[in-house]
Amino acid sequence: MTIKAPEIDKLEVPEIAWPEFVERFNIDWAAGGSGQHVSGVGRTRSGKTTTLIQMLDHRRFVVALLTKRVDPLYASFRKRGYHTIKDVSEWPERDWHPKIAIHIPTEGLTKGAAQRQASQIRRVLDRAWTVGKLDLFVDEISELHDLLGMETELRTFYKEAGSSDVALWAGTQKGVRAPREMYDQPRWLFFWPTRNRDELKRIADMNASEPELARQIVAQLDRYEVLVVDAWEDVMVRTRPPKL
Ligand SMILES: Nc1ncnc2c1ncn2[C@@H]1O[C@H](COP(=O)(O)OP(=O)(O)O)[C@@H](O)[C@H]1O
Ligand SMILES: [Mg+2]
Repeated sequence: MTIKAPEIDKLEVPEIAWPEFVERFNIDWAAGGSGQHVSGVGRTRSGKTTTLIQMLDHRRFVVALLTKRVDPLYASFRKRGYHTIKDVSEWPERDWHPKIAIHIPTEGLTKGAAQRQASQIRRVLDRAWTVGKLDLFVDEISELHDLLGMETELRTFYKEAGSSDVALWAGTQKGVRAPREMYDQPRWLFFWPTRNRDELKRIADMNASEPELARQIVAQLDRYEVLVVDAWEDVMVRTRPPKL
């Protein structure tokens, strides 16, 4: 099977140095008001958590929902001023601590373990929504969507969270297992390199005018290089986030 040569060279999408990108992103965000969400799609170890954690340094109130049992980067949240808790009931109010990491890992393979985890995560979503005016970071959204069966909650969250000024920052290693809303609701989409056809196809669900162009660029990215789409302004740039 031959892979079709790309019709568009990635160099046609401008590359911006990381510090400049972050500055522009923050200015554009401030001008955009509420209802913005961010999605990051890239296979495991592509640099998603590394990148999003750095972007979240610029946000005032953040709740990070961490669901993997172990991830070497989870220690970085602590170093960056996050207060780690294991249950949402330990979080009394937004001003208690501006940056919270809630670690709710899978505790086993039984149905009961999954149900307990799902119900704790549901409480985090509900709490974030009720408190409002914050950024909720979900490190692996396909875990909630695909493994814990939270499609309805996530769909509602995407559509309605803007009204309580909650921005959802979601990462996934499997776009095909994430909710469609992860593509069509956010203003900002970050894509790491892939040549997987199904993953590339999924890009068509985003709300920007040139998904085909985006697909071709994503297939040409280098390791740790990312394509960022601003779906509201319909612009794309490439950048290279640094290592922590
Ligand atoms: N820009 C980069 N340059 C070099 N190494 C990086 C870069 N971004 C991430 N890494 C390294 O790659 C590994 C995976 O990064 P991580 O953010 O955990 O990826 P993901 O969240 O996509 O699984 C980590 O060891 C991290 O230090
Ligand atoms: Mg990660």
